[in-house]
Amino acid sequence: LQALAARSRPDFLVGAAVALGPLASDADYAEALVGDFGALTPENAMKPQALSPRQGEYAFEEADALLDLAESKGMAVHGHTIAFTEAMPRWMQELPTGSEAERRASGEVLLDYVTTVVTHFRGRLDSLDVVNEPFDVDQGTRLQENVWHRVFGPTYPVVVSQAVHAADPDVRQFVNENGADVPGPRQDALLELVLDANARGGHIDGVGLQSHVYDLDTDAISADDLTTTLDTFAAAGLDVRISENDVTDAEGEEAQAEQYATVLATCLRSQACVSWTTWGVDDRYDWWIDDDGGLQQGHDLLFDDGAPRPAYAAVRDVL
Ligand code: XIL
Repeated sequence: LQALAARSRPDFLVGAAVALGPLASDADYAEALVGDFGALTPENAMKPQALSPRQGEYAFEEADALLDLAESKGMAVHGHTIAFTEAMPRWMQELPTGSEAERRASGEVLLDYVTTVVTHFRGRLDSLDVVNEPFDVDQGTRLQENVWHRVFGPTYPVVVSQAVHAADPDVRQFVNENGADVPGPRQDALLELVLDANARGGHIDGVGLQSHVYDLDTDAISADDLTTTLDTFAAAGLDVRISENDVTDAEGEEAQAEQYATVLATCLRSQACVSWTTWGVDDRYDWWIDDDGGLQQGHDLLFDDGAPRPAYAAVRDVL
């Protein structure tokens, strides 16, 4: 897939999010993955809860192993992610923020985390989600009330961006969000957040639009809407990554294939759209938390148990 994309868009990256486990244990899967994709996003291995389960202690082994693998295959790496409400270790969530002195001390701890992590990976990441899912999970436009927000206030993305830039001035910085891939208040809020952060001295290059399509009736992404979206960010001088695309097969594999093709084809037509990344490769290794909090297997990726689905051919044909 990467080689096909490079024919028309030499710098465009076709990526996949992956975990180390199946890559290390399933050679066929590893072969299929690295044969097709030009970029890798660690699915969980670079989240704060994975990198620093205890305050002051770091566990880089899994992320490093994924980076080693990517580099040995000539794949670019997209880092995911620094400030992310949902994936912080408990110690980080519970840093004291009651008084000004506490906020100052906790701010130093948070910035030390950023500096340590970004310095560790310096030179190995093509791009990085400096903030992931800044807005409330209810699909509104309010910032999530996380420890970053409590310590640094609503302009915390500026602080994160500057700390990342100081540790690695070459990594391309993104703010990643769900539900912002179609025009509307949430997309407006994302654009505003990034422009405001950069006006205050941030170094954000663009946005990641997750593009999870769980229900084709309610979240399908049309070519028109995505074109308008890409034009909006391009006009603001920002790059766009389609960062976590996956599409339910509940309406059938043909409908799934068509949605994948629409998103990728629309992305490729815009010079502002620099990457298309799918959130996983094979349903066999794709697990989701269901409404009752239990685990269920996902049915939304290009492969099912090693076999390409119609969506795979559709994606290939677009390229
Ligand atoms: C998900 C992973 O895929 C799961 O393995 C994990 O249990 C929870 O997180 N948006 C994001 C990703 O930005 O970090 C999430 O990844 C999926 C939704």
